[in-house]
Amino acid sequence: MIRFIAAIDDKRGIANDHGIPWQGKIPSDVRYYRDKLRTATILMGYGLYQELTKPYPGVSNYVATYEQNEVLKSGFEPVYDARRFLLDLPKAPPTPDQLISADSGLSSLDVAKATSPSVKPLSARADLPWERAILRKSSLENTQGDVWNIGGAVLFASTFDMADELYLTRLQGDFGCTKFFPEFEDKFERTSSGEPITENDITFHFEVWKRKK
Ligand SMILES: NC(=O)c1ccc[n+]([C@@H]2O[C@H](COP(=O)([O-])OP(=O)(O)OC[C@H]3O[C@@H](n4cnc5c(N)ncnc54)[C@H](OP(=O)(O)O)[C@@H]3O)[C@@H](O)[C@H]2O)c1
Repeated sequence: MIRFIAAIDDKRGIANDHGIPWQGKIPSDVRYYRDKLRTATILMGYGLYQELTKPYPGVSNYVATYEQNEVLKSGFEPVYDARRFLLDLPKAPPTPDQLISADSGLSSLDVAKATSPSVKPLSARADLPWERAILRKSSLENTQGDVWNIGGAVLFASTFDMADELYLTRLQGDFGCTKFFPEFEDKFERTSSGEPITENDITFHFEVWKRKK
């Protein structure tokens, strides 16, 4: 799954020539962003990379650049062709249920119980096969073949046809940006939209969009 994540204003602006105009003003968005980026692989453009002092913790940080002689800061890995990188991601790994059924010896009732959202929360120790199955299922869902494309504008534009899902923070207003997120409404459909939040006089909400079939 290739997910793009960005905060955009009413004009789809993401930054001006000095950076992100709302930087440091909407802490809920920073929390949301950090929470999403806790798992899977991150791909960023060289422009965004230049603004970072350290990599995102606990994940692989890849930097798209055509410049093969560039030596990156510690914790960042270069990607010389972002499209090839995204194409080479593992495609459609077996579903957690398929793996559980194939090699765990669980009955289909166990699997149904293990994967039911209404099942009790896991205790720290998972003794029973179906509890271990849940642990495996959740770790599989979080890691396999997933990448967060975190921009900026040039990287978004050069890989946009490969996006499966868009995680967008929609800010009300025009922030005078000079760099923009691609047009997306005709190719994607909105699957969720959060309640408006106002922080430091900026009103925004979170949306998720999926590519239309
Ligand atoms: N509001 C938001 O959510 C948001 C999100 C992300 C970024 N931003 C902001 O956007 C700004 C950066 O955006 P930007 O458009 O200037 O730069 P960028 O997209 O971060 O980086 C552009 C560079 O990435 C490399 N690149 C792009 N596509 C590539 C591909 N397909 N394969 C290999 N390399 C590729 C090239 O690097 P080389 O020139 O080295 O070859 C290109 O010059 C920053 O101010 C950042 O803070 C905002």
